[in-house]
Amino acid sequence: MQQNKEPQNASQTSVIPEKSALYPAHRFSVAPMLDWTDRHCRYFLRLLSRQTLLYTEMVTTGAIVHGKGDYLAYSEEEHPVALQLGGSDPSQLAQCAKLAEERGYDEINLNVGCPSDRVQNGMFGACLMGNAPLVAECVKAMRDAVSIPVTVKTRIGIDDRDSYAFLCDFIETVSVSGGCEAFIIHARKAWLSGLSPKENREIPPLDYPRVYQLKRDFSHLTMSINGGIRSLEEAKAHLQHMDGVMVGREAYQNPGMLAAVDREIFGTASAGADPVAVVRAMYPYIEGELSRGTYLGHITRHMLGLFQGIPGARQWRRYLSENAHKAGADIKVLEEALKRVADKR
Ligand SMILES: Cc1cc2nc3c(=O)[nH]c(=O)nc-3n(C[C@H](O)[C@H](O)[C@H](O)COP(=O)(O)O)c2cc1C
Repeated sequence: MQQNKEPQNASQTSVIPEKSALYPAHRFSVAPMLDWTDRHCRYFLRLLSRQTLLYTEMVTTGAIVHGKGDYLAYSEEEHPVALQLGGSDPSQLAQCAKLAEERGYDEINLNVGCPSDRVQNGMFGACLMGNAPLVAECVKAMRDAVSIPVTVKTRIGIDDRDSYAFLCDFIETVSVSGGCEAFIIHARKAWLSGLSPKENREIPPLDYPRVYQLKRDFSHLTMSINGGIRSLEEAKAHLQHMDGVMVGREAYQNPGMLAAVDREIFGTASAGADPVAVVRAMYPYIEGELSRGTYLGHITRHMLGLFQGIPGARQWRRYLSENAHKAGADIKVLEEALKRVADKR
């Protein structure tokens, strides 16, 4: 890692992996986002970037073990894809990790960052940060059950336990006792009471220097940074300090940013530079889903931001929002919406 370089120099440098990092796919990932990064969304994002590591929404162990649906369903095209699990029962987590490995997932990630009440009642998410030995036990149980990487996504602190020493103790315990070799650090502490999860995505402020320090102090671990990253320029600046960046809201709301990731971050050819071609490349997938009874709108809701910054973007968004949920809506709706984008070919 080039830890001493100033972030402002980064935009001039091509950020190509310098070493065979333990988990090279971590250079750039899209964050797990409940209700957003479902399998339709991930299929779509994959058309924009071949290399980006995609995370599922959090899936609870309870849903997998006791639920009626297939919560592990995904498309082969999504690889590399990581399953994020929510839970704190080591044996259930191990069981779910095993099932996920059998289904072909590339990584298991444990959620130690979500602050919502529902999550706390189930004793998982960010509140687990207060119980590092249990997180270590969970990671160890999963690692013993599978051979794919087991990673942890966490915060820089919870409530008033926000000292750097607390964070280091957590990482030390989970890496040494649990064997975790890769962490994603959301650079904002979690408030477990008094703030909604939405508010807790803006407050309190982000602390990037603390995350950089953590990487320096645990240089043998693979560490990605998350929180508030809005552009590939910013991502490259973080990569001067970190092994990887994870982008959440910006990647979802402005998915076009992913089109340059393969070239700019991974140093390979770009997958999906032309947004119109990306829309049309979705058609076979959409046809297949429609024939299985999926509503068009459940897929196209993830595509609304694709033309951000291009003339006609608003009309694209509006046409899809108004028409994709209608009974019988099909590919014709997308073709009509494309006509409203000035940049169409
Ligand atoms: C709609 C939404 C749902 C989210 N769901 C999850 C989740 O299931 N698991 C998780 O670890 N984080 C979840 N998060 C947090 C994100 O993974 C990420 O840590 C956070 O949005 C900060 O990154 P960003 O500033 O790039 O968006 C969610 C965030 C959003 C906006």
